Amino acid sequence: MAELVDYKGKRVVVSGCFSGMGEATARILLDLGAEVHGFDYKDCALPLASFTRVDLRDEASIDAAVGGLSGQFDALFNCAGLPGNMPLLDVMKVNYLAVRKVTSAIAPMLKEGSAVASISSTAGNAWMTRLATHLELAATPDFASGFRWCEDNIDKIFERYTFGKEALIVWTMKEAAHLIKRGIRLNCILPGPTQTPMMPEFEKQAPKSLLEATTQPINRFATPEEQARPLIFLNSPAASYVNGVALQVDGGFTGGAVTGQLDMSLIAAGMGGETELSTA
Ligand SMILES: NC(=O)c1ccc[n+]([C@@H]2O[C@H](COP(=O)([O-])OP(=O)(O)OC[C@H]3O[C@@H](n4cnc5c(N)ncnc54)[C@H](O)[C@@H]3O)[C@@H](O)[C@H]2O)c1
Repeated sequence: MAELVDYKGKRVVVSGCFSGMGEATARILLDLGAEVHGFDYKDCALPLASFTRVDLRDEASIDAAVGGLSGQFDALFNCAGLPGNMPLLDVMKVNYLAVRKVTSAIAPMLKEGSAVASISSTAGNAWMTRLATHLELAATPDFASGFRWCEDNIDKIFERYTFGKEALIVWTMKEAAHLIKRGIRLNCILPGPTQTPMMPEFEKQAPKSLLEATTQPINRFATPEEQARPLIFLNSPAASYVNGVALQVDGGFTGGAVTGQLDMSLIAAGMGGETELSTA
């Protein structure tokens, strides 16, 4: 089994390696013997094979960063993200458009049998309720046209963080059907509340009682490592038939909610009466 999640000598790219889940992912991959190439707009202290400063809000910066890579890669981890209290279009760029852009720019360097894993959120759980809108956005062919769609459809962007996380799930499902023709798998994880530097930002936006209610039924936040390990599994040969999946890594929150096992009144109270499935 150990060799199934074997990263010795594997060449991987991790975006968002400065902190939180991306830092944990890069750190564990280094421990597993991978050659890790990192992207972030803040300098990363890990002993990476290479680190490139990139602003994922800026298409030219992404092109320059990817242009600095050479050779073939085994995996891409899209871990960067912004919380919902940042400007709406910046959130859409970093959490959605840049994930698409980095993936398509690196895809020609990804080997047959490689994989890409990104981070959505349980906040994206209600993606089916806006599927037609998300498919329309997913049909935009590139960063610039996707950005124009966001500008032209600001009224449809239901809630900045939630909408981007839903969009990422739908794009993952759709794009996975195409990338697999080139031997590349594409998946994402949907973390529940996780103790990272982003958590204080969530705590500014949501009452503590709501955040606590969304940890049901496990009743604690995840650690960054508990999100990194499923990402690392998804991009390993152990997951060779897993494709187009949005994997809940939420301690049982979503399953408990849809089967009526949680106290949803705590969540409804925190959300001012709404009970749509969503958390961080
Ligand atoms: N923490 C949670 O509870 C939680 C829950 C669900 C999903 N998520 C998602 O997990 C992902 C990782 O977040 P985290 O919790 O580890 O937070 P974090 O703030 O620790 O990590 C985000 C990383 O993205 C980088 N980044 C942000 N904007 C960037 C930009 N413009 N260019 C380059 N890099 C940029 C940051 O420097 C940082 O390294 C995000 O997509 C977040 O939305 C977080």
